[in-house]
Amino acid sequence: MDRIKITGGRPLEGIIPISGAKNAALPLMIASILTRETLTLHNVPRLSDVRLLMRILGNHGVDAAISGKRLGQSEESGETITLSARDIVDTTAPYELVSRMRASFWVIAPMLARMGQARVSLPGGCAIGTRPVDLLLMALEKLGADIEIDSGYVIATAPKGLKGGTIDFPKVTVGGTHVALMAASLADGTTIIKNAAREPEITDLAECLIKMGAKIEGAGTSQIVIEGVARLDGAHYAVLPDRIETGTYAIAVAMTGGNVLLEGARADLLQNALDHIEKAGAKITVEPTGLRISRAPGLLAPVDITTEPFPGFPTDLQAQFMALMTRASGSSRIHETIFENRFMHVQELARLGAQIKLEGDVAIVKGQSRLKGAPVMATDLRASVSLIVAALVAEGTTTVNRVYHLDRGFEALEKKLGRCGADIERISGEG
Ligand code: UD1
Repeated sequence: MDRIKITGGRPLEGIIPISGAKNAALPLMIASILTRETLTLHNVPRLSDVRLLMRILGNHGVDAAISGKRLGQSEESGETITLSARDIVDTTAPYELVSRMRASFWVIAPMLARMGQARVSLPGGCAIGTRPVDLLLMALEKLGADIEIDSGYVIATAPKGLKGGTIDFPKVTVGGTHVALMAASLADGTTIIKNAAREPEITDLAECLIKMGAKIEGAGTSQIVIEGVARLDGAHYAVLPDRIETGTYAIAVAMTGGNVLLEGARADLLQNALDHIEKAGAKITVEPTGLRISRAPGLLAPVDITTEPFPGFPTDLQAQFMALMTRASGSSRIHETIFENRFMHVQELARLGAQIKLEGDVAIVKGQSRLKGAPVMATDLRASVSLIVAALVAEGTTTVNRVYHLDRGFEALEKKLGRCGADIERISGEG
């Protein structure tokens, strides 16, 4: 297993290209099941989750291929993936695959909408809280599906096809909204999704579905109306830039000091987080090719955050912001409202010298911690990257184990940071 070794203390200077968003690419790939025609996705990030999803889709009969590089494309240009679900050969998604990536559970929606049946394993335990799928199943039931649970599998059927209906989510759910959008696109009649998630990745999926021929209005607001169509066509679609990668590198620069252009980044995708990073002491300017982040030497200000559905502060940047606050001039409060148990990084940050007290869903971070390098490991994607952020300023060397978590969500992280002056290297092998 690979490890990443970082020796802290260097400011970041240069350009970091921002990749396509993982959390948009995954549902877009899954949407390919909705059509017999070819869906071509551009700007897809090179991530292990994308590779795994290609395999999962392959099991269902989707031909998935990565196109070769085209003239003028650099190493950083995202990949182009073609997905052709001409014939669905298997409507079962097995435990071995679904348990490795929760988002693959979402195949249930397009499979049911197109084939009238799907048998998908429940995702099983997850490191960040219980993360149930009850709301996803409720959405499918509202569209006329029969749902049964048998031996750890969800068996969903709609022999006469799905029917439009009203889905009123009692809680904002990104996955639930993705599932509802995909299923309703091929349902008979009109569907109204109330209290829909407003995340940019939802809008990205809706825009792609519209290009495929779906009739959707209101994506990006909390009420989405879908007029079902009998069939969808192929399309070309480019994945939007990753706002979590953008926010992570912005926080890294706020942490180390320096001056970095985040190429291709879009401020409108994470304005709330950028406002908090600025309050902490970074300077952020919008440039024609991206966002510039800089910070002059000096202490950071303590800033409280509360995670919320979009457009609030994203839970996926909570761990990184907590790492930043360990270096603020005073105490800050970090309130996690989306997931229970999303504080696993606290113990590992403590190994680097951070002083953080947990009170239920609030973490109180004492500022001015002296961070010192140590071997650490993390149990999820965002937690791992928060350790990288801390290690960039820790005295001495930090080794981050279990790097496969990072490879799920951050493309070429060590290259991107290394080119900006960080002392960082990947060590291959046992870890
Ligand atoms: C997606 C993102 C993840 C992000 C999260 C919140 C992807 C691949 N993942 O996850 O990175 O952290 O949104 O922005 O896009 N819930 C239920 N029942 C359900 C579904 C969800 O109770 O059936 C709860 C969850 O436990 C959680 C909350 O709703 O407390 C929000 O979860 P949700 O928005 O669905 O997260 P994901 O789609 O799994």
